[in-house]
Amino acid sequence: MKYIKDQENLKDKKILLRLDLNVPLKNGIITDQTRINKILPIINFLLEKKSKILVISHVGRPKGKINNDLSLKPICENLEGKINQKISLIKENIFKLKKEDLFKDSKYQVVFLENIRFYEEEEKNDVSFSKHLAKLADIFVNDAFSCSHRAHASVSRIAEYLPSYAGLQLETEINALKKVTSEIKKPVSCIIGGSKISTKIGLIKNLIPKFDNIIIVGGMANNVLSYKGNPIGKSINENNCESIIDDIFKIAKTHSCSIIYPEDVAVGKNMEDKAEIKELNEVKSNDLILDIGPKTIKKIKEVIEISETVLWNGPAGYFENPNFAIGCYEIAKKIIETNKKKLLYSIAGGGDTIAVLNQINAIKNFNFVSTAGGAFLEYLEGKELPGIKALN
Ligand code: 3PG
Ligand code: MG
Repeated sequence: MKYIKDQENLKDKKILLRLDLNVPLKNGIITDQTRINKILPIINFLLEKKSKILVISHVGRPKGKINNDLSLKPICENLEGKINQKISLIKENIFKLKKEDLFKDSKYQVVFLENIRFYEEEEKNDVSFSKHLAKLADIFVNDAFSCSHRAHASVSRIAEYLPSYAGLQLETEINALKKVTSEIKKPVSCIIGGSKISTKIGLIKNLIPKFDNIIIVGGMANNVLSYKGNPIGKSINENNCESIIDDIFKIAKTHSCSIIYPEDVAVGKNMEDKAEIKELNEVKSNDLILDIGPKTIKKIKEVIEISETVLWNGPAGYFENPNFAIGCYEIAKKIIETNKKKLLYSIAGGGDTIAVLNQINAIKNFNFVSTAGGAFLEYLEGKELPGIKALN
């Protein structure tokens, strides 16, 4: 892998810089800025080198359609203040852009393309789209470790058509994760939550041999509850996961890995509701499971207490509503408390996990925090991530 930090002669070079600025947004307001703060080093590095920076990022999952709620505009405005530079956000169709048209105005050293997932070609890892993107620049830099598990055009395919380098943040994340995974102390417990069930449920099987305890919370836990015959009302869940869950429990048995999942839940009638604690069999057809309940929290705390290493990706509940953030807060508090008593090595990863930890100012108490969620888990699986493979 070649690293951008080792490169000379970047002056006036047009750098296509893939970032992950997929920050949580609520009504156009950025609710957690961590991912923006983490890319300041690469932007400042390239500004100093007098490169011309063409940024590509996605926000959310617009699925190939223009969606103004998922514009990069608020992110550009936020970044402008942080780097003290004007940024131009290009809304024009990418296919109409030509290299010589970019950076014509010397006022702008940083130019953003609008949300790359407005183009269906992105997620298809499309060849001609990647070739076209490559024509807009001289060099490609991937500084988006947290989306390097996606085989998408601006993450993976593009590297075939431009000299390609690892960015500063990507390098830092990989080095930290390498260190963590090589020095891991047992018992190891992994807490997996969040709402991206399809990304995560399949990889649990591969994680089982590496961990002593896997704690399933968040959206995915609904699938497990339903598999075990419990009602889940209108809660999010993924279709056709029974055989995967079947495998999870079978493989866990062979490897003596305990699978922990909710014993009770907090429900609401809608996302803005108050929390009502329910036993599993009390969940009604119009209930939404939005957090774990007190019995589950107690159980998880016992597991954390006996662990030497804890890895956490994905919130335990709908933490955007404080009524359903209790599970997350209690898990965080227990990790921090245990950390003070003994050497519990703690790692957290993922945009939403970072956001919830920031709400209670807990980031500083973790040994390592990765911006990556899905990519972090796939890295732990031992998989070669498409975005990393493309740089090798
Ligand atoms: C993330 O937030 O994990 C990354 O930005 C990737 O997003 P995705 O799961 O929509 O591909
Ligand atoms: Mg995310």
